[in-house]
Amino acid sequence: MVVLVLMCAEMVMVPGVSATRWIVGANMGWTTNFNYTVWAQDKHFYNGDWLFFVYDRNQMNVLEVNKTDYEACNSDHPLHNWTTGAGRDVVPLNVTRNYYIISGKGFCYGGMKLAIHVENLPPPPTTSPINEKSSSPSLTSRGKFVLPMVFAIGAVWDAFLRFW
Ligand SMILES: *[C@@H]1O[C@H](CO)[C@@H](O)[C@H](O)[C@H]1NC(C)=O
Ligand SMILES: *[C@@H]1O[C@H](CO)[C@@H](O)[C@H](O)[C@H]1NC(C)=O
Ligand SMILES: *[C@@H]1O[C@H](CO)[C@@H](O)[C@H](O)[C@H]1NC(C)=O
Ligand SMILES: *[C@@H]1O[C@H](CO)[C@@H](O)[C@H](O)[C@H]1NC(C)=O
Repeated sequence: MVVLVLMCAEMVMVPGVSATRWIVGANMGWTTNFNYTVWAQDKHFYNGDWLFFVYDRNQMNVLEVNKTDYEACNSDHPLHNWTTGAGRDVVPLNVTRNYYIISGKGFCYGGMKLAIHVENLPPPPTTSPINEKSSSPSLTSRGKFVLPMVFAIGAVWDAFLRFW
């Protein structure tokens, strides 16, 4: 059930109708025994997306570091401490660059490290004027339909997380 909701959410969000809120680690969240390199490798992160970290607030944290400290799992001088204390942290990906995020408290050594590249949104596909005229009404109506869907799925997921 969780996986199903999540897969729907990702599939709906990926086409770039709106910004994507990535739940890091999907249904596993931000935890040990998970390979975040593998999780990230088939994904495109665009400027304007968010990363959403869900984890045990008593154990892990969310620290942005530079490349050197990412590779060495050094959490002594984070560039940004995204930890709020709730175990639910949002990292806005609002700059086109690489982001290196680790958990301190020793968990980075166990694999709690995420490196991603944030890209600019690709320009919309160019279509000939004839195609554009005939296809734009359907595109508009699909946009109107998909957007509430994204929020609806997000709301369901939020509700689910609260009871988790
Ligand atoms: C990362 O920060 C550390 C400590 O501040 C510094 O020694 C290192 O050169 C930095 N690495 C990069 C790639 O900026
Ligand atoms: C990060 O910020 C949180 C919340 O303010 C704080 O409790 C925690 O000690 C900070 N961690 C680091 C490594 O700075
Ligand atoms: C990106 O978001 C951070 C955190 O909200 C903010 O401090 C920063 O000014 C933003 N940068 C840009 C370029 O919008
Ligand atoms: C994650 O998987 C990649 C590719 O298989 C591997 O190179 C990397 O060492 C793994 N990372 C961890 C923390 O296990």
